[in-house]
Amino acid sequence: MPQTSWTKIEEILTGKKTGKTLSLRGWIHRTRSSGNIVFTILRDVTGTLQATIKKGNLPDKEFEDAKKTLIESSVELNGVVKEDKRAPGGYELQVTNFNIIEFAEPFPIAKDQSPEFLLDQRHLWLRSQKLNSVFKIRSTIVGAIHQFFRENGYYEFDAPVLQPSQCEGGSTLFEVKYYDKKTYLSQSWQLYAEAAIFSLEKIYNMGPTFRAEKSKTSRHLSEFWMAEMEGAWMDLHDVTEVAKEEVKFILKEVLKHNKRELEILGQDIKKLEKISKSKFPTITYTEALKILKEKENKDITWGKDLRTTEEDILMEHFETPVVVTNYPIEIMAFYKPPDPKDPKTALCFDMLAPEGYGEIVGGSQRSLDIENMKKRLKAQGEKIKNYDWYFDLRRYGSVPHAGYGLGVERVVAWICGIDNIKDAISFPRTVLRFRP
Ligand code: 4AD
Ligand code: MG
Repeated sequence: MPQTSWTKIEEILTGKKTGKTLSLRGWIHRTRSSGNIVFTILRDVTGTLQATIKKGNLPDKEFEDAKKTLIESSVELNGVVKEDKRAPGGYELQVTNFNIIEFAEPFPIAKDQSPEFLLDQRHLWLRSQKLNSVFKIRSTIVGAIHQFFRENGYYEFDAPVLQPSQCEGGSTLFEVKYYDKKTYLSQSWQLYAEAAIFSLEKIYNMGPTFRAEKSKTSRHLSEFWMAEMEGAWMDLHDVTEVAKEEVKFILKEVLKHNKRELEILGQDIKKLEKISKSKFPTITYTEALKILKEKENKDITWGKDLRTTEEDILMEHFETPVVVTNYPIEIMAFYKPPDPKDPKTALCFDMLAPEGYGEIVGGSQRSLDIENMKKRLKAQGEKIKNYDWYFDLRRYGSVPHAGYGLGVERVVAWICGIDNIKDAISFPRTVLRFRP
């Protein structure tokens, strides 16, 4: 084929290429033939297009190739664009050259296969329209997070992934052999961020995060991406406001760039638009229990963490994400300080998403009280010595500070409206799966 410029399918679907002779390249999405005609659907990154291959319109050898080509073969096509109301999308390519790049073997994925099978075939299933749409949206979300923080005066700061101690409780640490010693995979960037704010003041990061979560839920991954921020001179209220702004900004960016993908996923665009312009309420844990008691007749003992089912029932009363603050201090990580106005609760928050997507953000103000943190770490069986460097941060010009972490896959799953978090990450790792 002499052509050196390649047209993308989305350009044809705008109608602006009708009547033109042009070249396309991609993969065979579907194909069927009858006699002297082959109907194929070509796929590229931008969409799908019907291509009609008629004997006589192209060299015989190329027609024979087209007839025997199986799905997922890679091809280059030359042809004329015609409007055709019967074709999906309203346009088709009448092919004058069918240049096979690589004949595919029979593709292992057919219709209606089980989620587990599709996870085994993840390397091939990434080509599906569903995952294509999810990962385009994920790309927008990741870009939006960087943009949000950079435009608001935050520096990107990276922390080690190999960390000698816990941040979020020892029970979910992944142990790693480190020469002849042991260390752990990062549960959070936070403790190192707390060191860096004394230099950079406002910082953020997004990176792989690891939790040995034994729970087999649709919300938990063993490896996920967390987007975190930490700010000097900030309190709990300040960071809840930043989190609300961040989530709204992410939504607006997705609505700006990914309407087509949201439609493919069957997501309700109007609903997301409304959320992106709404005020997100803030309530306390105690108020959440009150709502559950008064509206649902659900009794939860004060002091118990909200279980996912309880979060879901609570969120039936809200259309937007909700910030819940002041959880009982007893069930909180060692670095979350008591609220001086209500010391049995912590200066902490979760942001819960509506419609059963649960906690998408978790954060807090940070304790400045070395003795209190030591006591709480000891109670968890931790070696205090490991945290000495962290306590130094309270010894040399300590300032109030706060931060939070946003679960990237939780946000992707919620915005896409997909039913399992595993489809929000490329190659999911869970308690039962670490392949391919
Ligand atoms: O609430 P978490 O545990 O908070 C922290 O790790 C803090 N140190 C963050 C900070 O203050 N800098 O985790 C933050 C978020 C959760 O709200 C959730 O969205 C997500 O990370 N997350 C998970 N996502 C997928 N799978 C898991 N196993 C997750 N655990 C937490
Ligand atoms: Mg949390």
